[in-house]
Amino acid sequence: MKILYTFFLLGISQVFFAQSQSVPKLFLKDILTFPLGASVNPRLLDENITYRERTGSEFSSVTAENHMKMMNIHPGADRFDFVLGDEIVAFAGNRKQRVHGHTLVWHNQVPQWMKDFQGDQVAWENMLKNHIQTVVSHYKGKVAGWDVVNEAFLDDGSLRPTIWSDHIPDYIAKSFLWAREVDPTVLLFYNDYGQDGKPKKMQAILDLVADFKKRNIPINGLGLQMHINIISKNEAILDVITKSAATGLSIHFSELDVAVNPKNNPEFMYDDVAKDEQLNKFLMLFNSFKSLPKAQQYGITFWNVGDKDSWLRGYFKRPKEYPLLFDDGYARKPAYQVLLQTLK
Ligand code: G3I
Repeated sequence: MKILYTFFLLGISQVFFAQSQSVPKLFLKDILTFPLGASVNPRLLDENITYRERTGSEFSSVTAENHMKMMNIHPGADRFDFVLGDEIVAFAGNRKQRVHGHTLVWHNQVPQWMKDFQGDQVAWENMLKNHIQTVVSHYKGKVAGWDVVNEAFLDDGSLRPTIWSDHIPDYIAKSFLWAREVDPTVLLFYNDYGQDGKPKKMQAILDLVADFKKRNIPINGLGLQMHINIISKNEAILDVITKSAATGLSIHFSELDVAVNPKNNPEFMYDDVAKDEQLNKFLMLFNSFKSLPKAQQYGITFWNVGDKDSWLRGYFKRPKEYPLLFDDGYARKPAYQVLLQTLK
């Protein structure tokens, strides 16, 4: 009897073993009808094997978090440094992931030599044109889309004063034209944050698109960064999505994270209530993205892979922040499983 029982147990464990071997692991990226991305850091890809594995297996698109920005890719007037950007492209290429380019023109992470640049309007235009065209040409055929200009408007809808607006009239349109000149097919995006609850900023972006259409300036998409938090208002976010989609352009939720501790409470507990509120925001965003016309669904990109590396922790000195789908050890959080079940 004892022997029979032992065989029975062995049999059961064999069945379980066989099942765990044969049931393929389901990936969120595989059940979605659009690319799922993350911003990535080449240092972590080199140093952290779990990060590397997760980034490679869980996402179908990657964006360089910092290494295609002016400061890193164009550190000297006569010097471009493509090493780390190329590393990301090679990583993605080996895994058949799409690469999204971020970003050609921004007021932040600008190298000192550009800030110190001296010259008349023509010299400034040549400098920016050379930057854009060298980078776009380098990644031609390797990058699916570019955030051509990032965060050009203030909350009140006015043009943000930057070295670009100071020295180059109509610099946004010119940047798009210069990018298109060297790559006729790459998708060109305008990317910005915080349009929800800021109707003037939203309107400035819609006006930009309308003006571009009128003047035949090429633009293919809008990046809605989606750095939101659990107390962000759903109606305001949905309004931004509806208005952006009404332009007919491709839509990219380009830098998604849902902060759970936006007020930086040092006693914050990431408890079930906070987790549920965060999950509801993820569901709202994924469901609204899914309901966009297929041709406009460029994808959803998370800003960073695991909570541990979220820019929110470092940038805002907010150690108790957990805004992503993977935890500090890059394990899937419960919200991931719910998305998997709900979005199938
Ligand atoms: O690389 C230097 C290092 O050499 C130096 O020792 C260290 C000291 O502070 O700084 C390091 O640079 C940091 C860089 O990230 C790389 O890690 C900068 O200080 C830090 O400011 C920079 O932050 C980046 C931020 O953009 C800059 O504004 C974040 O990583 C990046 O996630 C964030 O990304 C932006 C998007 O591009 C545009 N939308 C908003 C989003 C979040 O701010």
